[in-house]
Amino acid sequence: MTDTTSRIDIPRLLAELSLEEKAALLDGSDFWNTQGDDSRGIPAIMLTDGPHGLRKQAEGADHLGLNASVPATCFPPAAGLASSWDPALMQRVGAALGDECRAADVAVLLGPGVNMKRSPLCGRNFEYFSEDPLLAGSLATGLVTGIQSKQVGTSLKHFAANNQETDRMTVDAQVDERTLREIYLPAFEKVVTEAQPWTVMCSYNKINGVYASENRWLLTEVLREDWGYEGLVVSDWGAVNERDKAVAAGLDLEMPSSAGVGQRRIVEAVAAGTLSEESVDAAVANVLGLVAKSQNREPLDSFDVDAHHALAREAALESAVLLKNEGGILPLAAQGGPVAVIGEFARTPRFQGAGSSQVNPTRIDSALEALELALLGKRELLFAPGFEIEADAADDALVAEAVEAARTAEVALVFLGLPPSYESEGYDREHMELPAQQLALLEAVAAVNENVVVVLSNGSAVTVSGWEGRAKAILEGWLLGQAGGSATAALLLGEANPSGKLAETIPVRFEDNPAIGNFPGENGVVRYGEGLLIGYRWYDAHALPVSYPFGHGLSYTSFAYSELAVDVLDDSASPRVRVGLTVTNTGRAAGAEVVQVYVTDAEASVYRPEQELRGFARVHLEPGQSQTVAIELDSRAFAFWSTAAHAWVVEGGSFDIRVGASSRDIRLTDTVTLTGAEITPPLAVDSTADQFLAHPRGGAWLREALAGTEMGAMLFDETHGRMMRAIPLVRLSRFPGAPFDESALAEAAALASAQA
Ligand code: BGC
Repeated sequence: MTDTTSRIDIPRLLAELSLEEKAALLDGSDFWNTQGDDSRGIPAIMLTDGPHGLRKQAEGADHLGLNASVPATCFPPAAGLASSWDPALMQRVGAALGDECRAADVAVLLGPGVNMKRSPLCGRNFEYFSEDPLLAGSLATGLVTGIQSKQVGTSLKHFAANNQETDRMTVDAQVDERTLREIYLPAFEKVVTEAQPWTVMCSYNKINGVYASENRWLLTEVLREDWGYEGLVVSDWGAVNERDKAVAAGLDLEMPSSAGVGQRRIVEAVAAGTLSEESVDAAVANVLGLVAKSQNREPLDSFDVDAHHALAREAALESAVLLKNEGGILPLAAQGGPVAVIGEFARTPRFQGAGSSQVNPTRIDSALEALELALLGKRELLFAPGFEIEADAADDALVAEAVEAARTAEVALVFLGLPPSYESEGYDREHMELPAQQLALLEAVAAVNENVVVVLSNGSAVTVSGWEGRAKAILEGWLLGQAGGSATAALLLGEANPSGKLAETIPVRFEDNPAIGNFPGENGVVRYGEGLLIGYRWYDAHALPVSYPFGHGLSYTSFAYSELAVDVLDDSASPRVRVGLTVTNTGRAAGAEVVQVYVTDAEASVYRPEQELRGFARVHLEPGQSQTVAIELDSRAFAFWSTAAHAWVVEGGSFDIRVGASSRDIRLTDTVTLTGAEITPPLAVDSTADQFLAHPRGGAWLREALAGTEMGAMLFDETHGRMMRAIPLVRLSRFPGAPFDESALAEAAALASAQA
């Protein structure tokens, strides 16, 4: 590899470039390229979508994607990939994506997106991984590591709190500090601290009143100062509001080109003294740093289309989730009576979502073709499309044909899903249901055949409670990428064993979901009123039944969990705990299991969710094989974000460790006691008597001050004392007979707090 990083001499360029030239470098040159400067040896580099495949547009590029892009492997989008719970697979997919970028001379792939699935209606949920930040962060870290191992950059997006498409360019997401730190930021934090993505893309929306692109707290204090980010911050396409404020906040590169508007704004602000040249220099250094890094990329003539298709198929095999399988109806036996394959999606697969991530695939596998091939000469196959994908109304003739096929078949495989128009970047879904005409078809088929298997294709969760009784098995395929069709056939036939686990809860009813009443907001404001309680955190807190819980997924084999051993490796204020157990494949097929570790902080001084995913491991086992699994939990597994200290705090006490096959299938539990950090909130004059008494030094002072006084008798009185002790001491200090005055109290509070 030739290291050309040194050829771009950043300090020298900063010294030589004029302000105008520097400001120009902070703007794109068109939709997808940065500004180059041949005379200074600064090449232009290309940043383009992503994330589950390369979308490099041919000439006449337009960011809306109306122009075709070069053929590229379409891997499963994040909604599918997430169900693999397999960061190592993500890394391999990432490396393949990196190679495709090298072959297309692309410096930065714009992804992955790690926004939380706050509402099941978010139109872009198919591009996001999970409702859980640890899972999303772990998977995205794998992807970024893989892509960047090829000296191709990534763009972690959309930073931050972009959890809906309605008004996405202007909406003000009002999220409290603790919720941001515990739910909406940790996936970004994990990827930044563990994989240093070359770029981070700021979101369009406002966060607590300030556009992400102008949010210094977000782009500088959190991202760079707290997390140690070293790369470049790029705007989402068109996310810049006021360019000078954005530079000051820490937004380095504006994309796409603003045709000189941004440059003028920067130059004027520096001249007016409202923007420092140091801020401009810092942004330019980041742009040049990115350009320099990208020059280390070894070019590639072409990529291995077949190998990447095979990898896309492997990823699809891991991404599908077997939700139910009554009476072991799946896998389908190779020999037997006729099989009816019903539903247009079997022939015309839906394998990715719409918008900027839409890839032009190198080929497309259909489940129908794969099933026909596999069953040829063994079982008769009857196909009936049943419906037109985008049609609103049922087509009676198509339904009749499907019912006829089902009537004569031994088993009916019914391929249902969301039409492409239901979910896309740019708008949110209106409901969580499958189209009514598809459900009517299912009803008609189930009336003549009791062996119904439903295969789903949907980028975001659909409710199943209204119809799942009609199906003996459901295979949730999410969106499985270009090889999803053949992967689905292999899973149905048992050539591969399903191992996907839900990365999001499937609620019984839409009305149960956490964002109800607070989504998508009103008058340009969306209030994250459910706070920490998104996804399973919400359903658990409200003890709500769900159709399928977070982490759920069946297999053609079974697994036993045993010998849980929880060891404290470090009992400091930043503890580390090792969770060990044995997993055994107790069935007759080889398969993979995802062991999940949830932690509960039962006695906390703040509200803690019922349980939170803190670790997981995927193991592949042959029948009868056992394996020891070790999962290490670091301090963050136990910490909460203290809004008093503005820091992570592990509060001493006992924590339950729950190990299971899903969030609601806990197989082993243990308790661990940790010393943690002393949490002594600072005292002030308006702290209550109870707060003083709970404080080691404040309590000692108050007890002494009250000893033998009438007020003391009142405060410790059995009947009325509790009410009295809830009064702030400054108010009590003014009551008749108070044994201390306001200044003595202030001194005591300051002294107690200073020593804390
Ligand atoms: C999307 C980004 C995308 C960019 C470039 C924006 O509208 O939000 O995810 O990377 O366009 O296409």
